[in-house]
Amino acid sequence: MKTKNISLILFIAIGFITLNSFGRISNILNSGSEMTIGPQQAADPADAKYPAGAKIYKEKCIICHMANGEGITGAFPPLKNSDYLFKDKVRAVAQTLNGSQKPIVVNGVTYTAPMTPQVNTKEEAVAVINYVLNAWGNKGGSVTMDDVKNVVINPR
Ligand code: HEC
Repeated sequence: MKTKNISLILFIAIGFITLNSFGRISNILNSGSEMTIGPQQAADPADAKYPAGAKIYKEKCIICHMANGEGITGAFPPLKNSDYLFKDKVRAVAQTLNGSQKPIVVNGVTYTAPMTPQVNTKEEAVAVINYVLNAWGNKGGSVTMDDVKNVVINPR
């Protein structure tokens, strides 16, 4: 009778441990799948459509305008849903080439910090602006090399 009880307790204990570790394994598996296909990690279609611009953005712009394009309110303006960006694409290309020194108002917030020139060629500026016009759900359209033919690149 006594050994029977011990076996029963052992049986329950082992069963409990086994179930528990399955639970843990499934937690690990679940968290793994969240990391790869969760909403935060889903690929932005603009990355595939504008690969050259995406590369420039991730190398040069991301530190100020952030991975989500929202910038930092009051310091670095947003490029996601930016009324200022959508209003004038040629100006955006010119600014990426030559920087921006005067205060600007983006979505009702004034930004006074200057932006230094970011790229050296019109091709690069057009590529990255086409990326930001379409990244993060933006529907900003696009800009061509012909549109920016009159943009002058300031001497550095
Ligand atoms: C060191 C920080 C910094 C970096 C890097 C930077 N910007 Fe900016 N950006 C700013 C600031 C500050 C302003 C506001 C400038 C002003 O007030 O005149 C701005 C404004 C803008 C604007 C116009 C405002 C808006 O929100 O639509 C665009 C477009 C823009 N940046 C694009 C870019 C692109 C493209 C890159 C990368 C090639 C880039 N920026 C890199 C700081 C930065």
